[in-house]
Amino acid sequence: MSTLTAPADTAQTLALDVRDLTVHYGRRSRRKPVPPAVDGVSFAIAPGETIGLVGESGSGKSTIGKAVLGLQSATGGSISFFGDDITHAAPARRRALAAQLRVVFQDPYSSLNPAMTIGETLAEPLRLMGVGKAEAARRARTALERVGLPASAAERRPRQFSGGQRQRIAVARALVCDPKVVVCDEPVSALDLSTQAQVLNLLADLRDERGLSYLFVAHDLAVVRFLAQRVVVLYRGQVMETGAAAAVVEHPRHPYTRALTAAAPVPRPAEQAARRAAREAMGIGAAGLGTPSTAGCPFASRCPLATDVCRTERPALRRVGDSDVACHHATD
Ligand SMILES: Nc1ncnc2c1ncn2[C@@H]1O[C@H](COP(=O)(O)OP(=O)(O)O)[C@@H](O)[C@H]1O
Ligand code: SF4
Ligand SMILES: [Mg+2]
Repeated sequence: MSTLTAPADTAQTLALDVRDLTVHYGRRSRRKPVPPAVDGVSFAIAPGETIGLVGESGSGKSTIGKAVLGLQSATGGSISFFGDDITHAAPARRRALAAQLRVVFQDPYSSLNPAMTIGETLAEPLRLMGVGKAEAARRARTALERVGLPASAAERRPRQFSGGQRQRIAVARALVCDPKVVVCDEPVSALDLSTQAQVLNLLADLRDERGLSYLFVAHDLAVVRFLAQRVVVLYRGQVMETGAAAAVVEHPRHPYTRALTAAAPVPRPAEQAARRAAREAMGIGAAGLGTPSTAGCPFASRCPLATDVCRTERPALRRVGDSDVACHHATD
């Protein structure tokens, strides 16, 4: 299943090109087959572009991020970074890549080493790149100031900062080595709403300033809409819908994307109630309901529009309106 595949002549210039990525955890057993966590996912990110990866918990978002970062090996498919196939990059190549391909994780409490000062944490990746001690310390202080913290924060330890400040530090750690691509795995999910907005604005400013590409993972469509130009909607490791962020979020075509839009929390109680009613009217089942058929559409056991063909044939991505949608019954 392929989508957003760039023409061959632009492949060299893509920041990230993920094709038919499949990830299976654990050993495969014929007696008790476990479905892959990621199943034939393709997308590409141009330099300076942000792709939003959305889906409920367990849909395979983090696994895709880990495969891109080399923290989880791919079972099938390929991952290219500026035209260079890094799917099975050797450790030495990975170490070299580590400066250009960075990550910001969700949890600002566990992702920073409590025993290290912030200055040491930020200098560490630079030292690994061979940057001298004084220069690394100088760049660490500059990075702290860029994310809105005083340079004196370098002397302190993670526990002396709030969740929002720690996430700024994690952003500084990602940016201190001047990367090209940053995987942001639910970077604001653990923060309160006003802190979320500040960190999202910071990420947007840094991207625009430096021409960064983001693979931005979130379960919240509103968060993704703010930052991403294009969106990939995942369900059980498969792409359900993909297209321009405005098209996917404002005119969702796939029943699953519609369920996600209806479920997204909104600050106004009246609108929230209306959305809940719409969701109930759609008759969409709760997450985890039913066993997905391996042959048909993975969403069939929850889908109000499911018919026989949905249970026997896996729908391929096809153009519906302005998006690509994997659904037998989606219409413009
Ligand atoms: N280390 C692991 N070992 C085995 N299964 C895993 C592991 N990590 C994730 N999974 C499984 O892979 C699927 C996708 O998980 P994940 O990528 O974390 O989803 P998401 O980030 O969208 O919540 C889930 O079914 C999850 O239980
Ligand atoms: S293919 Fe069928 S079951 Fe799957 S989302 Fe479309 S209508 Fe629903
Ligand atoms: Mg995750």
